[in-house]
Amino acid sequence: MKQDAALPLVGFGNHHATEAVEGALPVGRNSPQRVPFGLYAEQFSGTAFTAPRAENRRSWLYRMRPTASHPPFAPFAGGRMIGTAPFGEARVSPNRLRWDPLPMPEATQATDFVDGLVTIAGNGDAGAGVGCGIHLYAANRSMVDRAFFSSDGELLFLPQSGAIRLVTEMGVLDVSPLQIAIVPRGLRFRVELPEGAARGYVCENYGALLRLPELGPIGSNGLANPRDFEYPAAAYEDVERPFEIVQKFLGGLFTTTMDHSPFDVVAWHGNLAPVRYDLRRFNTINTVSFDHPDPSIFTVLTSPSDTAGTANLDFVIFPPRWMVADDTFRPPWFHRNVMSEFMGLLHGEYDAKAGGFAPGGASLHNSMSGHGPDVSSYEKAVEAELQPQRIADTMAFMLESRLVIRPTRWAMETPLLQTDYDSCWSGFRKAQLPAGAPA
Ligand SMILES: [Fe+2]
Repeated sequence: MKQDAALPLVGFGNHHATEAVEGALPVGRNSPQRVPFGLYAEQFSGTAFTAPRAENRRSWLYRMRPTASHPPFAPFAGGRMIGTAPFGEARVSPNRLRWDPLPMPEATQATDFVDGLVTIAGNGDAGAGVGCGIHLYAANRSMVDRAFFSSDGELLFLPQSGAIRLVTEMGVLDVSPLQIAIVPRGLRFRVELPEGAARGYVCENYGALLRLPELGPIGSNGLANPRDFEYPAAAYEDVERPFEIVQKFLGGLFTTTMDHSPFDVVAWHGNLAPVRYDLRRFNTINTVSFDHPDPSIFTVLTSPSDTAGTANLDFVIFPPRWMVADDTFRPPWFHRNVMSEFMGLLHGEYDAKAGGFAPGGASLHNSMSGHGPDVSSYEKAVEAELQPQRIADTMAFMLESRLVIRPTRWAMETPLLQTDYDSCWSGFRKAQLPAGAPA
């Protein structure tokens, strides 16, 4: 793959311009009569043409052959564990659910990203552009001569163990655990495993594109700063041999084979592109007096719904941070929310649970399910002498949605589902009212 210096382009949602061959990028016109070197100009849209300027996301790609040049797609035999909302009419349990991590595939079982992707939950309806799919992956082989893309949503990658290299039409992103990446809807990519076996989470957002949240009274800095989002430089491969393209479209998987690599974009410009962000650069805001703010203070990215302040999908992290609040119960409090919460753990321990929530694992607390710290975390917190305390070596995340998150059949039947999760909230001591209080 030929590319110029990687990752020179920063700024979430900014317009970028990049060329892997000098002179490939047309100047002053998106689609001139003759593109340099006989490249083909192609617009790649992530929003409707007429979306307001602040929302509008599109790029122009200059490539060796048009994307349109491929044979028909036929049903794909693999990927049977990949699901798409809506997930039928099965009744969803109101119970709190938690899963152990997906095991890495056996070394003798060659498993690439597409083979190793399994859908654990989701909500909404991909066809209606509402909700999301939540997937886990565990793979031990790079994708070779195979590309994948989703027509159903943009893909938020959260590697938990092992780095991944996302080779995309618009350039290459190396993404290690504690970094995230977004691949736009429709963009072809392959996942390579430069360190061997890898595991992580993928959220497929069917709704409005993820963007930085508004900062309100926080001001013009803080949380995830735009300058820390890194875009790839244009890169291409000029290779002629059979390449399989696997497409996810309205939940179905389809395949076709081309006689050349789809990664033949020599230059591009625009504001729709894959992007990488390092979660360690998140500027965490928290209380310096008492109580702790709602976890929305930890929002990295949000996909809004049609109702203001009520997200289709919020991506929230629980990063390392200082806890300094006076006279305050410092772990996450007990709560019941109208929003539904799917959690994963990228690294370390989560401060509301003393055990059972392992890196690579997951939990689901749907709308109005009561949850919060387990007994031992609670007792430790109420008895602690409050000093400034650093929560280090941790990175949990939450995917929060206005729509109830439905686990898939696989999620309810897998032996990874813990059968004793509820027990972490049993054994709380009863409060002692003063003598003489009404019974
Ligand atoms: Fe919660």
